Amino acid sequence: MQVTMRIRRFNPEKDKKPYWGEYTLDNVEPNDRVLELLHRVKWEQDGTLSFRRSCAHGVCGSDGMRINGVNRLACKVLVNALGEGDHVKIQVEPMLGLQVLKDLIVDMEPFFEHYRSVMPYFVNNDPVPADGRERLQSAAARARFDDTTKCILCACCTTSCPSFWADGKYVGPAAIVQAHRFIFDDRDQAADERLKIMREPDGVWRCRTIFNCTSACPRDIEVTRAIGEVKMAIRRGGRGAIQETEGTEEAGGEG
Ligand code: SF4
Ligand code: F3S
Ligand code: FES
Repeated sequence: MQVTMRIRRFNPEKDKKPYWGEYTLDNVEPNDRVLELLHRVKWEQDGTLSFRRSCAHGVCGSDGMRINGVNRLACKVLVNALGEGDHVKIQVEPMLGLQVLKDLIVDMEPFFEHYRSVMPYFVNNDPVPADGRERLQSAAARARFDDTTKCILCACCTTSCPSFWADGKYVGPAAIVQAHRFIFDDRDQAADERLKIMREPDGVWRCRTIFNCTSACPRDIEVTRAIGEVKMAIRRGGRGAIQETEGTEEAGGEG
């Protein structure tokens, strides 16, 4: 099949404004991935095309971009998911809400600043067990935050969120997912500090339960649900309260 790639181009060193570049590729297989097509454009037609990628297997989170209007990882999207027949058109743009540095590469620093702001690390000041073993946790307690451990920090969620587009100071769904991962870990001792951060004006209440983040997540994390659980923990005064009563109240927006 033939594919026409329409790619948003911008080189701040020579372009006054972004423009669309069009590239036609022949002999594309339906199960080729968009990342392979971007490589073909770069290697066969225009070596100046710039984009991030590393693992090519949906693990590193570096190739988030807007493909046919939806945030996805280029290495996970097959051509046959975007169209059928002898000719398919595919449009590729950088993620929204972050400054474009060149072509499909955006400045991830504001995103990682939000990530760092939620204390995304394990806190436990008790001495390690005398027998040298790890801090034990029940399977049920581990399952409580299993979903949010899957995050690869690709930014597909945060850059699909209208609240983040409206105001980049909003900490965003990815950072809340990271906060959730530690807030609901019963071995961690900093849940209250994180909930305090989440209560701040640019914290979790900026979420209006729009759900774009959940649709965009390539790891199928229930992002909006995790955000709702953090909101509920704030309302109820800590993770303990929600763990005792979870499932009995619908998590919604507020603020
Ligand atoms: Fe990416 Fe999903 Fe993590 Fe958001 S929650 S950064 S979409 S993996
Ligand atoms: Fe945005 Fe997701 Fe909330 S799209 S408004 S963070 S549910
Ligand atoms: Fe690593 Fe796509 S290149 S997730």
